This record gives sequence, C-alpha cells and structure tokens, in this order.
Amino acid sequence: MPSSATVLNDLFAQEPGRVERWSVEAGGIWFDWSKTHVTESLLGDGVARLERADFDDWRQRLVRGAIVNETEGRAAEHLAERGTGATESVALARALRGRMHGLVEAVNAGLLGEIRHIIHVGIGGSGLGPKLLVDALGRDGVRYAVWVVSNVDGCALKEAFAHCDPHHSLLVVASKTFTTIETMLNAASVLEWMEEAGVDDPHGRVVAVTADPDKALEWGVDETRVLPFTETVGGRYSLWSSIGFPVALALGWDAFEQLLDGAAAMDQHFIAADPARNAPVIAALIDRYYVEQAACQTRAVFAYDERLRFLPAYLQQLEMESNGKSVDHAGRPLMVPSAPITWGGVGTDAQHAVFQLLHQGRVMVPVEFLAVIEPGHDLDENHHLQLLSNCLAQASALMTGRVSDDPARAYAGNRPSVTILLDRLDPATLGALIAFYEHRTFVNAVLIGNNPFDQFGVEWGKQLARQIGDGGTGGMDASTVALAKRIGL
Ligand code: F6P
Repeated sequence: MPSSATVLNDLFAQEPGRVERWSVEAGGIWFDWSKTHVTESLLGDGVARLERADFDDWRQRLVRGAIVNETEGRAAEHLAERGTGATESVALARALRGRMHGLVEAVNAGLLGEIRHIIHVGIGGSGLGPKLLVDALGRDGVRYAVWVVSNVDGCALKEAFAHCDPHHSLLVVASKTFTTIETMLNAASVLEWMEEAGVDDPHGRVVAVTADPDKALEWGVDETRVLPFTETVGGRYSLWSSIGFPVALALGWDAFEQLLDGAAAMDQHFIAADPARNAPVIAALIDRYYVEQAACQTRAVFAYDERLRFLPAYLQQLEMESNGKSVDHAGRPLMVPSAPITWGGVGTDAQHAVFQLLHQGRVMVPVEFLAVIEPGHDLDENHHLQLLSNCLAQASALMTGRVSDDPARAYAGNRPSVTILLDRLDPATLGALIAFYEHRTFVNAVLIGNNPFDQFGVEWGKQLARQIGDGGTGGMDASTVALAKRIGL
C-alpha cells in the first residue's frame, strides 16, 4: 500500500516543538499540520521547487491581473472582487457590486413584488458557492428562503416547487456563459410554473447573473435586472461576484461584505507571509508530497460541523476541475500526477460508514478535519462535546495506531491528517477559509505546472450529449447505441 517511510510518532518524538512549528493562524483560522509527514527538509525542497517553478512570478501575475489562463488568454481576477488587483479591475468589480447592492435593496423594498422565496438556478460554480454559503450561514433565519437548483433532472426542480410559492418567488438565472443547457432548461421550466400558476408577468420576476449580459437580454431579461460579472472571474471562483446575489439577499448585505473582507484577509496572508508560515503554500507542498511521493490518489475532507456539509462538494469542483489536467501551459504532458481525487463528508456520520477503510484499508488517504469551536446551536452542550471529541479522536487514532495480538484489531497508524479549526463559523471566517482553498489550489497548479483556470475536459461529453439528445448516435460505440435504443432515444 502507498505509505510514508517516515513515522509520524517518531517525528513528534524527535521534534518537541512540532505542534507549534507546524501550526499557523491566518484569517482567524488555525491550521495544524503536525500530524502530517511535513519536515523542514520537505518544506525546504518544496520552497526550492517553487523557485524553480517561478512561483513568485505566477503569484504576482495572479495578483496584478495579468494573464494566467493562457489557453483562454485571460487573467483570473477573483481577487479583484476582494479589492486586490489591477486598479481598473478592482474599480469594475466595485461598480458591479454597487449595481448588485442596488438590486438587493430593490428586492428588499418590494419593487419586484412580495418576494419570499428565491429559486437560484445555476450549476457547477454558478450554484455550489451560494448553496454552501446559504446552508452554512443561514441557519438562524434568512430573509428569503433560497433553493439552489442545479440538476437537469426535473425531480430537483419539483422539490423546489414543493417548497416555493410561485406568486412570491424570484427566479435567479446564474450562468457565466448563459448557454448551459441544464440552467437554461430549468429557468424556462420555472417561468412556465409561474405562468401556469397565473403569475402576472413572470419575466418581471427574473434576475440574470452572467458574464454575457447580451445573452440574458436576448433571453428576455430586462436590462435593469441583469447583474453582470467579468469574464475573468472563473465559474468555480465566482461566489464573490454577482453569483453571490442570493447570498446577499438571504444573509444580508453586511454579511456578504464580511465574506469578502474575510477572503481579503486570507489574500493578504497568501501574498505577504513567508513560505515557511504561509498556510496555502504549506498545504500545497504537503498535498504534493502525498500525491507524488506517497502515491496517494485521493484526499478526504471531513467537516465535523453539519453547517459545512456542502464543503466537500464545493472543493471537489474547485480542486478537480482546476487541477485535473494532463498537460502543462505549453500543452506538454505533465511530469507529475495531477490533483488527487477530493472526496469526503461530515463527521460523525462518516465514521460509521467510510472510516473503517481509512483506519485499516490498504490505501493511505490524507485526511483533512474541519471543526468549529463555537457550536452552531443552543442544544445540550454534550452534542458539541461529542462532535469535537470524535474529531480529535479520529485524527489521533489514524496517526498513533494500536498494537494488538489480534491482527484484525490492530491499527497500523502513521496515517496523516490536518486539522483546521475555526473559532466560529461567521461570514468572514468562511470567506477566509474558501480563499485559503483557492490559493492552495493555485499553488498546487504552479507545482504541477498546469493551468488551473480552464476546463476543456468537460466539453466533449457535453457535445456528445447534444448529439444523443438530437437522436444521433451514429458513429458512436456499440454499447452507447444499444443503450440509447433501449431507452428510446
Ligand atoms: O461544465 C463545467 C462548467 O463550465 C463549470 O466550469 C461552470 O462552473 C459550470 O459549467 C457552469 O457554467 P455556467 O456558469 O456558464 O452556466
């Protein structure tokens, strides 16, 4: 099985200050890497590799708004949404945010009717961010109930319809390209649902969030209700832009601003901190160690907090769509493995399902534990005590292992984990956490040598789906032809 020759328990014995050395506080978040195989030598090699990969230059390019997405000839300007970047990009982001703020106030003032429900239709980066944020931060009450609908399966939309009143719903169509089939079909079906219910002027209840405003106008959205964002903000990096519209509606404008402020704090840390104390840099160097030297093909994220249940799905898109590539910037085959598979769930549920393999399976999976010190509820404090005790216990058990005469009851140990501890789950801290993951993904990309900002790997399947949907399986493989025939396509 993939393993590491270094023994974690030995590292603790050899380095008395190990916990302090390999813990960092940034953006109000505590990161503890002491239970990974990180050493000064691993860090030193990693920093030298960053130099060879021109990391400082790449980071500067990202921060300045220069082209980093070479296959599409674009900058990646999600930092500009948080106030860092080319002056004109920061000014544009601010202006577009001002426009969004105006529309939030118009909805709050009832100018679009008496709105109680928001149906946010968007997929991938146009849906996962709002879904995570509203679920994580909106549990103590929201101004509007938000339903994020992504799947083209009508069952997803039916579920939203069952909870929303067509006469009091606002449809937000979120699509960077405004061409994504799932989103456009779902949006059309929401309009039909409103029409069938006798809503006066359903089109007057639509807000479009897009980087292609002309397409939204063509689709029939009034110019006053189009919230543009810039082409240089990628889908999986877009929750800071007008894609966050339902978040600002549900949680309030101040919360949305705090989210951006928290991300900005993490941006400053990423830009200024020495590599030896830089959270995204350390995390990425350790990521690479496990993929490249310990041959780990996956990494797991377990949030010991129900409010973060959608974080693993969010990270799957961020990390796998960004760094699941085979070629470098110049189109040459990569010399190192691409991103590992990100997967995960919530604790303690996952303990009763998948942790068996993590403790005793013949694969090594670097685990990331997330926990929040302040509980998100006011029930018996034993709930939180149990939750956090289990989180710490799992990490400790994975590392220390246990000797037993009975092989079935023995734990090999030496299984690494990171613990990420938040004091509380508020907009600023969550903003910082998400920005940390963005930067870590970027550092990984520089080390791998790939472009983290394109996603051509998803295009071919879309094209074939269109072909099959149009009844054309001609020229396709025999299995697909037979299945299509059986289904009646
Ligand atoms: O198919 C992948 C993808 O392009 C993602 O990168 C993106 O977040 C998602 O689809 C949705 O795209 P859009 O916002 O253009 O509808």
